[in-house]
Amino acid sequence: MTELAINGGTPVRQVPYPSWPQTDDDGYVAVVEEVVRSGEWGGFPEPGLNATAFEEAFAAYQGARHGVLMMNGTVTMEVACKALEIGWGDEVIIPALTFAATAYAPMAAGALPVIVDVEERTWCIDPHQVEAAITERTKAIIPVHLGHQMADMDAIVSIAERHGLAVIEDCAHAHGQRWRDRGAGCIGDFGSFSHQSSKILTSGEGGSLLTNDDRLARRAHSIIDCGRAKDPDEKEYTFGANYRLGEVHAALLVEAMRRFPEQQAQRAETGKAFEATVADIPGVTVMPADDRITRWSFYNYLLRIDPDAFAGRTNHVVCAAMEAEGIPAEVQYPPMSRYELFQPSLSRLPVAVEYADRLDPATMSFPVAEAAGERESIYFMENVFRDGLTGVQDAAEALAKIQAGADRLPAV
Ligand SMILES: Cc1ncc(COP(=O)(O)O)c(C=O)c1O
Repeated sequence: MTELAINGGTPVRQVPYPSWPQTDDDGYVAVVEEVVRSGEWGGFPEPGLNATAFEEAFAAYQGARHGVLMMNGTVTMEVACKALEIGWGDEVIIPALTFAATAYAPMAAGALPVIVDVEERTWCIDPHQVEAAITERTKAIIPVHLGHQMADMDAIVSIAERHGLAVIEDCAHAHGQRWRDRGAGCIGDFGSFSHQSSKILTSGEGGSLLTNDDRLARRAHSIIDCGRAKDPDEKEYTFGANYRLGEVHAALLVEAMRRFPEQQAQRAETGKAFEATVADIPGVTVMPADDRITRWSFYNYLLRIDPDAFAGRTNHVVCAAMEAEGIPAEVQYPPMSRYELFQPSLSRLPVAVEYADRLDPATMSFPVAEAAGERESIYFMENVFRDGLTGVQDAAEALAKIQAGADRLPAV
């Protein structure tokens, strides 16, 4: 049997996957040079020329009336809360499997995150748990479209309508996704997108809000531009700050948007090939994308492994072995109950509103998110799919090799 690379054997993949962000594309260099020479480097007046061009192009691609470009995909959700007048003492329901930013953003607006477990089928927020967590203080739900999945937006929208709640979709992983032909981020009141380096529509840092509501769009523009009124007639000021994105980043996004539709189509095609290739590996479960997803455009692809079929080894050990075989694979998020980065007590907020006991991770329990984060979930990174069929075949071959030799993997 071939020795595992983690034990000194020859890696399945001998050549690196293509880089992300793309470093070999002169188009990006040209647009940066153009902005540099123009002298218009900043984001004021808001929005700048490139910011406007990107906001329009991205909103049109997703199917929203408005896009609002800003610094990152964390402040987007803070701004969304503020635009919706959600703040001090209000509660916002979020899933237990996500990046810490999904919890920190409402806290930055003064609201308290109420964390609920995810669904077994998709690892996205569980609508039943959402409904059970609603109180008279609840003002919004933030579903996260995780990996290659989308949250059950039919159920979330129905709950939100019945209880008069706002919906802010965290679409940091979902640029391009469509649910029943409606773009991710265009179904709730706001859609929040990250353009950070690893994301599939990137300028290194950046974030977008999408909305179909004219007034919410104006309020979001105002909040990121120090509170300036965006409608000369109404003169509606907001309590804002400077969250504008500069024009160099915006120009990179205009350029990235031009490439995006082709990249999306390729990812969808190789994603399907990947599913077919890994389906027969013992202990590996493909979690098919919900069939209400009508345009499939994933950030990372999420697989489930059964540790029993990997000689009791967890996803952490299998990912380390995959990396050694030359395949970019990660665990990404621990459950919020055991997430080192999630330290709500460092904020005075929970104490100030006598909420500290409910926001103490030590008292939380999320069985599905805990199993996913600590034992079962493996994220395959975007560049595995950009390398075409060879890329996904190498990834599948490495996973099969590791499963076959699992009893020789390190214990932890
Ligand atoms: C699910 C999720 N939400 C929010 C964010 C925050 O985005 P940003 O890094 O642009 O602030 C990320 C980024 O990793 C994310 O993955």
